[in-house]
Amino acid sequence: MYESLSLFQQKKNWKYLEEYHCCLLERVAYCLRPEAPKEQCMNIFVPEIYLNEDGSVGGRSYENGFTAATVPVIFENGLAGYQEAEPFDIEDHRSAAKTFLEAGFVYVSCGCRGRSSLNQEGVRCGKSPLSLADLKAGVRFLKHLSGVIPGDMGKIISVGISAGGAMSSLLGVTGNSPLYDKELERMGAILTETDHIFAAQCYCPIIDLDHADLAYEWMFQGKTHYTGMPFVGFGEGELTPYTKTLSQKMAATYPAYFNSLGLRRPGTGQELQIGSGREGSACGYLVEKLEESAAKYLSRLEEEKGQGYVRDYLQGNYQEEKFDHQKKTFVSVPGIDKRSWLSWEEGKARISSLDEMLKSYHLRLKKCPAFDDLDLIQAENQEFGTPDQDKMHFNTDLAAIMEELVLEYPEESRQYLKGYQDICGDKELADRKYRINPLNFIGTGEKTDLAPFFRIRVGSRDADTSLMMTMILALKLMETGKVCTDYEIVWDEGHGRADYTGEVTEWVQRISSER
Ligand code: DHB
Repeated sequence: MYESLSLFQQKKNWKYLEEYHCCLLERVAYCLRPEAPKEQCMNIFVPEIYLNEDGSVGGRSYENGFTAATVPVIFENGLAGYQEAEPFDIEDHRSAAKTFLEAGFVYVSCGCRGRSSLNQEGVRCGKSPLSLADLKAGVRFLKHLSGVIPGDMGKIISVGISAGGAMSSLLGVTGNSPLYDKELERMGAILTETDHIFAAQCYCPIIDLDHADLAYEWMFQGKTHYTGMPFVGFGEGELTPYTKTLSQKMAATYPAYFNSLGLRRPGTGQELQIGSGREGSACGYLVEKLEESAAKYLSRLEEEKGQGYVRDYLQGNYQEEKFDHQKKTFVSVPGIDKRSWLSWEEGKARISSLDEMLKSYHLRLKKCPAFDDLDLIQAENQEFGTPDQDKMHFNTDLAAIMEELVLEYPEESRQYLKGYQDICGDKELADRKYRINPLNFIGTGEKTDLAPFFRIRVGSRDADTSLMMTMILALKLMETGKVCTDYEIVWDEGHGRADYTGEVTEWVQRISSER
């Protein structure tokens, strides 16, 4: 039934990339009926060492100890801003192909549909949860290639950043869930294979879009200036009186939700709660994670460059590179004086005030609401649209909060409230939201095959979503008692591939050698 997906017929299409010592098969369709063929395909890169002279699977073992039969398979997706992604070329700056190939792993860049995908008839065909369904089809296809190309398909390791990081977490927690069968069947995915994976690397995942708006206002409470998202269509600015009041109300609503999760501190089991402002053990835990992150950074800095350099760093006596959206290039800007909230003594970093840290170091990026935007301009508004209605509201908590503002802000209420009220009973929308929220699949009644390993990294300056999001994801995974979860905040990194050089490949090597 799946003959047309067979790689045997494509043998002559393999390219040899001499510079990278690998073979490449480009743009292989991973399902029988792709609606957006440029997106529903993958690039497969195989280190030449795992191949015989005639191209058959075999070769020799690599210096990392793996062979064609045992080497893990990196499965990277390029979803950014929930926008559809074609598979990456090796030279693409968004891809980690070179890093993973140099470490001797098989590397697959898997394309997928996204929020503005169109099919051949020009009809929208990539709304939630289709990006995830596509990636699941990609996993199934790779498993179908077991033995046909090098790689242990029992060791597929997903990698993604931001919206792609969310997909990575979802691949890890929704393995073999029947909730995506309809979409898999429709695209002609390989139904006889499974789609659970071995591990998920999640960079700065934009998850839990049900609660991301409230979490954002809790995180940036009292911060009314935003630095802006020129790609989305707004620059730096100040919240309006209406959104300032809305922000306060949203921030005040968040603790009830957070506390309902009943999260516990790893090790001690202490219940993690938040109160008003920055009160509560959960806020304390977040600050501890930030302190650990700063300590790792500062101890490395001290070791590499000396104590004087650390002093300069804390004082802001250095230059840093920042992307200038107007000039469209990186520019050098003065460092930030951190002494009012960050100290470093005898190998211990201490953050005395999260609010102080947010004033100059970790700045608010987005307007309020941050995801379900008033004017539907955010990526998520389009992600939750339909083929007929491109952009939609989706946060069902906001109508009730906005109703409290009707008397004070009649004009804004007239303009915005109805849009948020209208979506409250939308069951179809609720279902499409449910299926791309990884929290619905961790420690709940959902029957899935959970990946045994997760690695979660987020930058200390990532303001695309609340730092609570990654913390909750990590804690919920840890609480299952079934998976190894490696969670760190990476100091001074923003939104992106927040990591220290070499650590991700070490992790892949370690977890893949253990089993
Ligand atoms: C991404 C960034 C965002 O701020 C967001 O809301 C969704 C996705 C991204 O970079 O993928």
